[in-house]
Amino acid sequence: MNVTVKQGTIEREPAEVLVLTHFDGDTRLNDAAAAVDRVCNGQLRELLKSGEFDGKLNQAVLLHTSGKAPAKRVLLVGLGKKKDARVDSVRQAMGTAVKRVRQTGASSFVTCLHGDGLPKTSAVELAQALIEGAILGTYQFTEYLSDKKAGARQVTRLAVLAADARQLADLKEGARRGAATAEAAMLVRDLCNHPSNVMTPTRVAAEAKKIGRERSVRVKILERAQVERLGMGAFLGVARGSHEPPKFIILEYNGSRRNGKPIVIVGKTITFDTGGISLKPAENMEQMKADMTGGAEVLATVRAASRLRLPIHLIGILPATENMPGGRAIKPGDILKSLSGKTIEVQNTDAEGRLILADGLAYAARLKPAAVIDIATLTGACVVALGQFAIGMFGNDDQLKRSVRDAGLRAGERVWEMPLWDEYFEQLKSDVADMRNIGGRGGGMITAALFLSKFVGDHPWVHLDIASTDWSERERAYIPKGPTGIGTRLLIQYLIDQSL
Ligand code: BES
Ligand code: ZN
Ligand code: ZN
Repeated sequence: MNVTVKQGTIEREPAEVLVLTHFDGDTRLNDAAAAVDRVCNGQLRELLKSGEFDGKLNQAVLLHTSGKAPAKRVLLVGLGKKKDARVDSVRQAMGTAVKRVRQTGASSFVTCLHGDGLPKTSAVELAQALIEGAILGTYQFTEYLSDKKAGARQVTRLAVLAADARQLADLKEGARRGAATAEAAMLVRDLCNHPSNVMTPTRVAAEAKKIGRERSVRVKILERAQVERLGMGAFLGVARGSHEPPKFIILEYNGSRRNGKPIVIVGKTITFDTGGISLKPAENMEQMKADMTGGAEVLATVRAASRLRLPIHLIGILPATENMPGGRAIKPGDILKSLSGKTIEVQNTDAEGRLILADGLAYAARLKPAAVIDIATLTGACVVALGQFAIGMFGNDDQLKRSVRDAGLRAGERVWEMPLWDEYFEQLKSDVADMRNIGGRGGGMITAALFLSKFVGDHPWVHLDIASTDWSERERAYIPKGPTGIGTRLLIQYLIDQSL
């Protein structure tokens, strides 16, 4: 999407479609809508009065101006009731708008800043949300369709008008951030939409190298032999059942002037999770091509940080492998020695995410990090506990948890904290090893997180379980059906906040 930001007067701007918004319950139109209404002889006010449009979130009505304004059409989109509205309402309204614009056959639209009056929200944030919604709403994955016509019609241009010079500066900064975060989330959707016969660990490594070539990012790929020498027995244990070679991928971006401690992000990168010898049932198994969402998000976040030239030191880690039931696969009862030295009895080979993350986190701890965040489609229990709308959060540091919670809130990718109490470790005890990889019935999301905590060093750490949000069963305003990329914008927002 080509985004232009400029100063202008909305009612005088020629456009294929002008997009305006309205809060449910407001009796008066906002300034932009009122200005357009005046040149259109009260058409918008009439619409409100008629009761055909009241401004419910994502409600959209299209009007033709029939030559009364330089713009051909006006699209009025609802933001919901002001008291319920959040930054995400703007994101949603713009996602709805861009799809409605596409339906008209137009390839561009013009709009202005929306959501004025939302508490504790800056113009930069509103602009960022506007751009994010508009870009994310256009997402389509047509790579493997012979008939590409379905995706041919697309909105490719957006102009956002600023009322004055100060707003112009805010809009520009918001647009810069919004384009970077939205493109990152779309990269994640692409990586997770590709089937596992294409998106192998080798291909993920190639995608990392591509980022290394394009940007100021150093990329290191550890091959099986190197990983063996290091002693990553847990990661290698998972890789044993697959013919695809595992890759331990490290990306480093240093935009800080001081050579400070790095922020390390670790992403679960299972390019397909069959469950291994503890085979999963067939139903919905195809969704397990997205069991690499965490890793894809780490990759996209590092790319975005370098694009935005954030003044931070960032390292991304992706332990990448398939989880397959091959002839050499690990079996229930097998004991693995992890990089940390701790031994693990594998009682269920389908609890593989925590095994590869155990080594990823131990590796991260060796980097003397300022903070570590891991992100993973870790447990079905997370889906049971939180449904579709919250990411499960665990951590050992209140300040880091607060920052992550706040970033999630503003990104519209909200987290919900769960307990990381040591009492639950009872469930992870093994008779023959330091611990086992499953915690039995009850608290499945918690025992998984507690397992991970045993491989974390003496530094602030947050674990995000995104099994609840990585895949959407239905299309939403700016979220497609299938891989969502949720978590990506949270991570980037957290890094932006660390840079301010
Ligand atoms: N990748 C799955 C978790 C998952 C489930 C992600 C549904 C997205 C949607 C993970 O590797 C897994 O299979 N976990 C097991 C753990 C169990 C054996 C302790 C689970 O949750 O069933
Ligand atoms: Zn699994
Ligand atoms: Zn998995």
